[in-house]
Amino acid sequence: MTDRYAVIGNPIHHSKSPFIHREFARQTQQDMCYEAILSPLDQFAHTVRSFQNQGGKGLNVTLPFKIEAFRLATQLTERAQSAQAVNTLQFRDHNEIIGDNTDGTGLVRDIEVNQAISIRNKNILLMGAGGAARGVILPLLRFEPDQLTIANRTLDKAIELQRQFACFGNIRSASYQELTQEKFDIIINATSASLANKLPPLTPNVFAAQALAYDMMYGKQLTPFLQFARHCSVSHLVDGIGMLVEQAAESFYLWRGIRPETETVIRMLKNS
Ligand code: ATR
Repeated sequence: MTDRYAVIGNPIHHSKSPFIHREFARQTQQDMCYEAILSPLDQFAHTVRSFQNQGGKGLNVTLPFKIEAFRLATQLTERAQSAQAVNTLQFRDHNEIIGDNTDGTGLVRDIEVNQAISIRNKNILLMGAGGAARGVILPLLRFEPDQLTIANRTLDKAIELQRQFACFGNIRSASYQELTQEKFDIIINATSASLANKLPPLTPNVFAAQALAYDMMYGKQLTPFLQFARHCSVSHLVDGIGMLVEQAAESFYLWRGIRPETETVIRMLKNS
């Protein structure tokens, strides 16, 4: 029987996940289907349960339900626990629901494999201290950067993340104003500023020679952060399309035990 998967969110019509997973399924010849489900805002758990009761095998979870999915899971992976959010659910027997978070792994795979940049010993700046930033901290620290600096407008939130993740590696917090004298090899925008067509208050000095500027968001044009980086003569500019495909590949691997090839799917999305 064809196995059923879906992405659930609200809104959901913009989601690229059905395209990505159908490509993965075609490529790896898996007997599965993948759809998009719009859940009413106040009925996430009910919508998940009815999908599960109809024989669904797994779900990707997107905004605004990642924290609710975290609460709904009966078992959490270490990645989900540290992110305190779930983007992948896997349904097992006896109503067991495994909650995982593949976002951070998607980011590091895009940096390490697709961009061929080693995170080890690098000086990394992560901008933002919300859910998107939290989800990538542990996966980044696992690759042993020299230091991971978290900068946030509201400094207290960055300090709290530093406190929570201090046992996993060399992590510190800073305000944007403190960053005037420092250079970073990898600068990652995990703020939601791009959504409002805005830019975090970053000084142009932060980019080391050969720096990678990475925006977890993407759009038809360069995001404001990537435009700023280009203006500062940074040539290695990467948006979140690769991360999107890599986190999907990690979910697919969790569900199907097969790692799909991602390069062609990334290329297809970039050209669409
Ligand atoms: P998400 O789940 O996308 O991370 P969030 O939890 O609301 O969303 O967090 C948004 C993050 O983007 C926060 O770190 C926020 O900074 P504050 O904590 O100071 O609010 C950051 N952010 C949003 N707009 C920003 C802007 N214009 N400049 C800098 N940071 C911004």
